[in-house]
Parts: sequence; structure tokens; C-alpha cells
Amino acid sequence: MHITPIRLQMPLTQKLFRPISHQLILKDQKRSLKTLLNMPAVESKFDPKDMEFRRLGPAGLKVSVFSLGGWLTYGGTQKGSIVKDCMQTAWDHGINFFDTAEVYAAGQCELEMGQALKELAWPRDEYVLSTKVFFGTSRKEPNTRGLSKKHIVEGLKSCLARLQQPYVDIVFAHRHDPDVPMKEIVEAFTQTINMNLAYYWGTSEWSAAQIQEATEIAEKYNLIAPIAEQPQYNAFHRERFEKEYKPLYEKFQYGTTIWSPLDSGMLTGKYNDGIPEDSRFANNKDFFKNKIEALKSEEGQSKIKKVKELTKIAEKLGANTTQLALAWCAKNPNVSTVILGATKPEQINDNCAAIKLLPKLTDDVMKEIEGILDNKP
Ligand SMILES: NC(=O)c1ccc[n+]([C@@H]2O[C@H](COP(=O)([O-])OP(=O)(O)OC[C@H]3O[C@@H](n4cnc5c(N)ncnc54)[C@H](OP(=O)(O)O)[C@@H]3O)[C@@H](O)[C@H]2O)c1
Repeated sequence: MHITPIRLQMPLTQKLFRPISHQLILKDQKRSLKTLLNMPAVESKFDPKDMEFRRLGPAGLKVSVFSLGGWLTYGGTQKGSIVKDCMQTAWDHGINFFDTAEVYAAGQCELEMGQALKELAWPRDEYVLSTKVFFGTSRKEPNTRGLSKKHIVEGLKSCLARLQQPYVDIVFAHRHDPDVPMKEIVEAFTQTINMNLAYYWGTSEWSAAQIQEATEIAEKYNLIAPIAEQPQYNAFHRERFEKEYKPLYEKFQYGTTIWSPLDSGMLTGKYNDGIPEDSRFANNKDFFKNKIEALKSEEGQSKIKKVKELTKIAEKLGANTTQLALAWCAKNPNVSTVILGATKPEQINDNCAAIKLLPKLTDDVMKEIEGILDNKP
């Protein structure tokens, strides 16, 4: 005969409000302390090598000056073990920060990077992970994108499910949303942090005025302010980062996680003589239609000329053009981290050597580079 245990027969309300004896609590605490003391220490798997770490804006969070992102690559052209190999290679160079977004390959990037993180099994407190909400994952229902409180919270929950993570360190608003009151946006990101879905929030491609408004609203209503912007910044794209955002660095110590530091590969020199097979421009012809056409224009040719001139400086310093372009970004003290994009582990090896070039970028060298670029905002 099956006998139901008595405690299960107790009414739910009685079970919930049953007084708990002090002795029971003490016994429980002793037991958990014993479990804690017997737990093996977390085995550190991270070796910073000669990586530099910078504070992300006004926050205490430290990110490697080079980081790795998955736009157009992971879940897009690159799937499976190559994603894991790229992330492992980055980690082996001392990279601790990884970036993705709900929109990258319509959620596939988060799936790939999440699976790689699971298999790599690095201690969760040894890496920093960010994702971004706003563009959605190509669904048609209007609340599955944008910055309404509904999408910020539900969108981030879906990101976490794809990433197989209980939280991200930073959640970015991938663009500003003029259809949502700023107070709702700031409240919603504050809510994600209070729900332990993220530790910090940031902006991406917001205007300086919008970032200032969000920060002031946070202050006024005792909400949580954003800590960093994710803007495009490279030797050919400088205006907003160097000019418009300047007051944000001074007033709020606003951090930056910069994207497309190689201008999608232009600054490697790989497009100097046309479009190589299996390159980003070749694999995403429609998306880069304007850039591909621009290669032949006067402006495009002038960029290529500049890349060739930069190559001469790089070679004098014992480096290559790619490394010079990356080190040039990292040299700017308002850059918290340079997000690398890479389709192959070898590119990450190549790119991370830029760290050795940083001390060689003296004032004289920077002046020489400025002379070639001739685009200081
Ligand atoms: N917030 C935003 O709106 C936003 C927008 C864009 C990107 N991002 C973030 O920023 C990250 C980096 O941006 P990005 O991928 O555009 O960076 P990028 O450095 O400008 O371009 C990376 C691409 O250049 C090529 N490449 C990289 N290293 C190379 C090397 N050593 N030699 C030859 N080719 C090389 C690779 O493409 P091929 O091998 O295919 O040619 C690689 O995928 C993204 O992954 C994403 O996390 C954010």
C-alpha cells in the first residue's frame, strides 16, 4: 500500500506560514557553512598575459582593452567549433570581454556564443559578457523590438535563454528609440538590473544629448544611469567619438566599447586591390553595396592611398597595418575597449599583437599618422 508522507498532507498555507524554530535555522546555517568550507576553490582559468585592462566608464568593471564580438561572423558565416576556437584564442590572449546582440544573425550569434561559453566552461566571474536589445530577431510583432519596457525586459530574457546564461554583465540599448519616453527606457534598464538580469546598462549609437538626458533622468528619479556607449570608431570614422561625445567623457566619465575598429577590414589593406574571396565584403555583398561601390570612387581611392601610407609606418615599427589601426584606436584614452571582429583564430592572433605596438605610438608617430589621415575632427 502506498503511504503519502504526512508533511505533504499539510495544507499549503500552513506549510508556508509554519513557524521555523531557531534551532532549525542554526542547524541549516552550520550545514551550509560546512558545505562552503568543503567546496573546492574555483580553479582560475584566466591568464591576462600582457593584456591591458581599463575601467568601463564610471563603473568598477574592468575590461580588456581588446575584446571580441560576433557581428556578421558567429552564427552568420561562422558556426560550430570555429566560434569556440575564436573565443578560446581571444581568451588565451587575455581577452575577458565578449559582445553580442539579439539581432546578430537573428539570434543565432547568441546561440553560438552561448553554446561555446558552455563548452569552454570558464568560471563565470572571469569573463564579461554583453548583449544588446532594440532590433529584435526579425519577428514582425511590434513589441518584439524597440525600447519599450516590455521589449527591454522580455527581449533581454530571450537573449539570456539563447546564451544559456542567468545574466549578462552589460545590456546595451542597440539604438535610441524615439517612440518611447526616456523615463520608461531608464526605468526598464534599471528594472533589468534589479531583476539580476544584468549588472550594468549602456547605449549604442545614441547622440550625446540623448545620453545626457538618460543620465539626468536617472539622477532625478533615483534610477540607474548608463555607463558606456558602443559607438563606431576607427581611423576613418572619428567625428562623433572625438567631438560630439567629448563632454560625456568629461562630465560622466562615460565609457566606450568601440566597434568596427578596422572599418570592416578596410584598415587591414585587404581591399587595396579589389575584394578577396571569402572576405566580409564578398560574403555580404548587399549589406556592403555602398562601401563596395565607394571603393572605386575618389573617396575610396583616397582611403586606400592612406592605408598604403599607414602600412609604411607600421612596417617601420615592426608591425602590420591591421595592428597599427587597432593600436591607434586603443591609444585614445577615451576608448575603454576595442571590440575586435574575427572570422578565424589567426586573425585574433594577428590583431592581439597590437598590444605590443601601443607603447611604440609616441607623440611623433601619432603626429605622422595624423598627417596621413588628415581627418581630425
Ligand atoms: N553596436 C553596434 O551597432 C555595432 C555594429 C557593428 C559591430 N559591433 C560590434 O563590434 C564588433 C567588431 O566590429 P567589426 O566586426 O565590424 O570589426 P572590424 O575589426 O572593423 O572588422 C572585422 C572583420 O575584419 C576582418 N579581419 C579582422 N581581422 C583581420 C585580420 N587580421 N586580417 C584580415 N582581415 C581581418 C574579418 O572579416 P573577413 O575575414 O570576413 O574579411 C573580421 O570579421 C562586432 O563583432 C560587434 O560585436 C557593434
